[in-house]
Amino acid sequence: MTLTEPTVPHSPAQPVPLVPSELARGLTVPHGFGDQSLLSPRPDAIRLLGGIPDPSALPLDELREVLGEVWDDGGAAASLQYSGSHGFEGLRGWIAEREGVDPRRILITNGGMHGLSLTVQALVERGGVVAVDNPAYPLFLRTLELVGAGTLPVPVEADGLDVEHLARRLADGARIAAVYTVPDFHNPSQGTLSAAKRAALVELAERYGFVVIADDPYRELRFAGEDQGRRVFFDSAHVVHVNTFTKTLGPGLRLGWLVLPDHLVDTVLRLRNRQDSHSSTFVQTLVQHLLVSRPGWFDATLARARELYRHRAEVLVAELRTQLPGRLTIKPPEGGFFLWPRLTDDAVDPRELHARAAAGGVDYQPGEFFATGPGTDSVRRLRLAYGDRTDDELRTAVGRLAKAFG
Ligand SMILES: Cc1ncc(COP(=O)(O)O)c(C=O)c1O
Repeated sequence: MTLTEPTVPHSPAQPVPLVPSELARGLTVPHGFGDQSLLSPRPDAIRLLGGIPDPSALPLDELREVLGEVWDDGGAAASLQYSGSHGFEGLRGWIAEREGVDPRRILITNGGMHGLSLTVQALVERGGVVAVDNPAYPLFLRTLELVGAGTLPVPVEADGLDVEHLARRLADGARIAAVYTVPDFHNPSQGTLSAAKRAALVELAERYGFVVIADDPYRELRFAGEDQGRRVFFDSAHVVHVNTFTKTLGPGLRLGWLVLPDHLVDTVLRLRNRQDSHSSTFVQTLVQHLLVSRPGWFDATLARARELYRHRAEVLVAELRTQLPGRLTIKPPEGGFFLWPRLTDDAVDPRELHARAAAGGVDYQPGEFFATGPGTDSVRRLRLAYGDRTDDELRTAVGRLAKAFG
């Protein structure tokens, strides 16, 4: 055969169609959560929608300074070159010291979602079953499409995943590859997994041989209550801890990390190496320089951010109590970005309320978007995100919500 004699006759009028893979064809389009068509049409709409950090809490000025320092130090050229799949040593070392683990166990990722999808692909067999929070962060469910996994919904209580419920299901014969949970300031339900439940969950994982995927993006944002600890996760060979700088330094950086059990490091590294080679050398250069060259800066920044989010949570709760007395059951959050109030009156239709609120200029996520199975009251809940909204916006948003109640 010569190059001038193609085996398939070429006809520009009828090109041979390209067929996406079975995997790509099976990926769902956003339904409910993330569906833009449900948003308020008003240009002045106030969005209480996402776990988004406030711009004032992000290191805009510092990154400009850092860029200058890196350029002056002659690091500019290297920042545009290839680097290793594992991530920058200095950055891994800085994170490892904070986490209290060996730096080898830290794998730098392109943010939390990347860490989640890597973990799922590394540990869940095609068609396997993953126990998930009910209600859950919907985008995790979408990562399960990568392996066609089924789900076993496990109720989430005020103090996190109902571990006893999971234990009963396992004792009854259910077999799972993984449990997915958000241990601190749960998305959407705002609670924190208690220390006792953390220990019980890890014990189940070791007894039945599954991995706990602990997705922890909000854990640095505690402004009330007691930390419930992470050591139990780091000390187990059955836990992958997923984290990200999204909520603290900014989602646009796309920078996060996994704390892997030692025995999984090489496996996950090989998988990652075949996808994107490594996280941005440029971003790692800047963030490593920022964190390493300014001892104490990260903690001081977090302290200011926590104060800001504590204040906003207080404003939102106070406004709801004043403008909507008795209409919602509210538990003030201890951290993170979400309030998960419950409608008190069963006569209120949550879908109609949501539609009226959107028409009146306030967007929030209805609780039904987060349910992963029956048996929760999610449908009667609202997820209100306050992280990137000013006091005035929160006040106005609650006023509009009050009007939607009628
Ligand atoms: C529970 C949870 N996991 C993961 C993520 C995604 O983090 P990233 O933006 O770093 O991918 C988010 C972001 O909203 C989240 O709320």
